Amino acid sequence: MPDEPLVLGIETSCDETGVGIVRGHTLLADALASSVDQHARFGGVVPEVASRAHLEALVPTMQRALDEAKVTLADIDAIAVTSGPGLAGALLVGVAAAKGYALAADKPIYGVNHLAAHVAVDTLEHGPLPEPAVAMLVSGGHSSLLLVDDLTNGVEPLGATIDDAAGEAFDKVARLLGLGFPGGPIIDRTAREGDAASIAFPRGLTAPKDLAAHRFDFSFSGLKTAVARWVETRQRDGEPVPVADVSASFQEAVCDVLTAKAIDACLTRGVRTLVIGGGVAANSRLRVLAEQRAVKHGIEVRVPRPQLCTDNGAMVAALGSRLVAAGVAPSRLDLPADSAMPLTSVSVAG
Ligand code: KG4
Ligand code: ZN
Repeated sequence: MPDEPLVLGIETSCDETGVGIVRGHTLLADALASSVDQHARFGGVVPEVASRAHLEALVPTMQRALDEAKVTLADIDAIAVTSGPGLAGALLVGVAAAKGYALAADKPIYGVNHLAAHVAVDTLEHGPLPEPAVAMLVSGGHSSLLLVDDLTNGVEPLGATIDDAAGEAFDKVARLLGLGFPGGPIIDRTAREGDAASIAFPRGLTAPKDLAAHRFDFSFSGLKTAVARWVETRQRDGEPVPVADVSASFQEAVCDVLTAKAIDACLTRGVRTLVIGGGVAANSRLRVLAEQRAVKHGIEVRVPRPQLCTDNGAMVAALGSRLVAAGVAPSRLDLPADSAMPLTSVSVAG
């Protein structure tokens, strides 16, 4: 619909500089520049390097998005920007740029929550989110189960990781297997050649004694240690490490726990829609297993296409678009970058 507001979103919370443009639920542009190659040799994102890369990439990425959508800044109705959570210096670059554009073009600005944006992006592919829905957010920094009623109004946290995030576990295990960074996509590929049933790695917080207090929480640190011990034992015995089998068995342990708990949350809360977001939602095994298990209970699984699961500007624009449509007041121009922005805050108040 041409009369729906045109919303631009800017994402700089980690190592991807993203600018997306949406009209209503329609994605018009999704420009991305990544500094991931600059971090690879350090085995993780180096905040200072990421901030400098954002500074260099932001204006060209903005121009590419405007060109792709065939609009000018004057046509945009509102600018959304990730206010947090994320790396402080990286967030500052995006927030400062968004303020500059908002001030120069006299547009309202929305400082938004990166994690809520990972949920909102699904609306670009599958339309309005049925309410209520359970959202599972699995990224490099977070693993959470949330009950989402009206996303623009906040979310109810059901559970979260008590130690490592799921993506962090993928990255750490890939590192100990010498596979490179970021680990998730590499393990996903390597696992295709391996046998997922070959090694019985532990499923964190699934024992009856843990379920009482941590039914919807996750723990991946014990799994990571179990993989490290298993690999060390092989090496000490002078045996080759079957990298594909370890990758597949590790991936299976993560996906088994994530999908079991997500479906349990849906059943417990009487919810028939599970939406999965965040970088780990790009995992091919997670997508298949979630679908297989959900269908048995009449639950619909919604997962955006892999490019929309990892960080991008479209997700920020998508959440901005929902906030504008719901009549939520824009943020003030002095909005902060909040590296620890809580999940309960979807946008920075006006
Ligand atoms: O959402 P995201 O792009 O950035 C954060 O907000 O953290 O997620 C990045 C994380 C990384 O840990 C990466 O290894 C993981 O998502 N990831 C994957 C896959 N693609 C990205 N994990 C498993 N399988 C994948 N295919
Ligand atoms: Zn993310």
